[in-house]
Amino acid sequence: MDANLNALLRTRLAELAAAHRLRRLRPWHWHNGTLHDADGRTLIDASSNDYLGLSQHPLVKARAAEWAERHGAGAPASRLVTGTRDITLAVEQRLANFKRCEAALLFSTGFQANATAIPALAKLGTGGTAIFSDELNHASIIHGVRGAKSRTGIFRHNDLDHLDDLLKQHSGRKLIITESVFSMDGDRADLPALVQLAERHGATLYVDEAHATGVLGPQGRGLAAECEGGVDVVMGTLGKAFGAFGAYIAGSRTLIDWLVNRCPGFIYTTALPPAVLGAVDAALDLVPGMDEERAHLARNSQRLRDALAQRNYDTLASSTQIIPAVIGSEADALAAAQRLEDAGVLTVAIRPPTVPEGTSRLRLTLNSRLDEQGMQRLLDAVAASLPLRY
Ligand SMILES: Cc1ncc(COP(=O)(O)O)c(C=O)c1O
Repeated sequence: MDANLNALLRTRLAELAAAHRLRRLRPWHWHNGTLHDADGRTLIDASSNDYLGLSQHPLVKARAAEWAERHGAGAPASRLVTGTRDITLAVEQRLANFKRCEAALLFSTGFQANATAIPALAKLGTGGTAIFSDELNHASIIHGVRGAKSRTGIFRHNDLDHLDDLLKQHSGRKLIITESVFSMDGDRADLPALVQLAERHGATLYVDEAHATGVLGPQGRGLAAECEGGVDVVMGTLGKAFGAFGAYIAGSRTLIDWLVNRCPGFIYTTALPPAVLGAVDAALDLVPGMDEERAHLARNSQRLRDALAQRNYDTLASSTQIIPAVIGSEADALAAAQRLEDAGVLTVAIRPPTVPEGTSRLRLTLNSRLDEQGMQRLLDAVAASLPLRY
């Protein structure tokens, strides 16, 4: 055994604690779809990504149980061995139709999809592929970009002039990567403009729709669906608005064939289990018809942004169900989250390295299950717990 390992880890953890950056796992209890803390107190969930409340939907739960009963608890092999069942292919076809793409491929998680599909795409082209990535892209994208070991240009957040300048400096194959809704700021990329820019430079456009799928775009199909055919690689997750688990990449049949052959995060891992496929299948039945829920969510999100703005909190360029309230220091963000929790609202303080230095924040996320009484409780808690800023 390494006699020094634990001592070294303790030292490093103490350093994180001193910088207010230590992360801890806390248990939360859900009873009949309601969140409780360890003392049994009911809390308003303003921090999960279950944007349409589908993880608690009777149809989603029932189909997960039914498919587990009918097909078994596990896959249990990788897709290229015996993990591809008729139900897997059927769900992939439904996802492709939902995203209005030719084909789709399921992944175990969004992290795995981004971390391994980006290097697989960067392998194309004899001279390699240069990658252009928004500076606020998710950690899984950063992981994928680093793993690709390609020439890389990081463009300023949503700054398409900067991206244009970087693209002009490269003559070989190019891959542009952005999120359509940014996970920590809740703002949107200008996809129609990105599509045009990509076309002008002959670049491939890769869009992560983790926080848009189910919530935005026509019938919740995401923002890429608003520029049909313009986005080459559409990635999305199924553990957020779909209330299930896993992720997908959608695009042309050829793109999917390439990933099946060259993407290690797809090839060398066990297929998604039937219960997850059942939940996704049910979510696909429900999501297109949830316009009312999406409108309710958008209205409440605006009300929360207004309430925070009245108290002079910067909500950045949020225009979605993800609403940051920038606080500044790690310690102040943690204290604000604690005050809100004491007032009955669960939010999480997001600190570096997830967000840039000095922009520690509360990341409030709403879901369409929040009724008027709950919303009022949330607004009252914000008013009581977040002091006016000057
Ligand atoms: C933008 C973005 N992409 C990818 C992921 C990873 O997805 P998953 O949770 O399925 O691993 C997340 C998750 O938090 C995300 O916010």
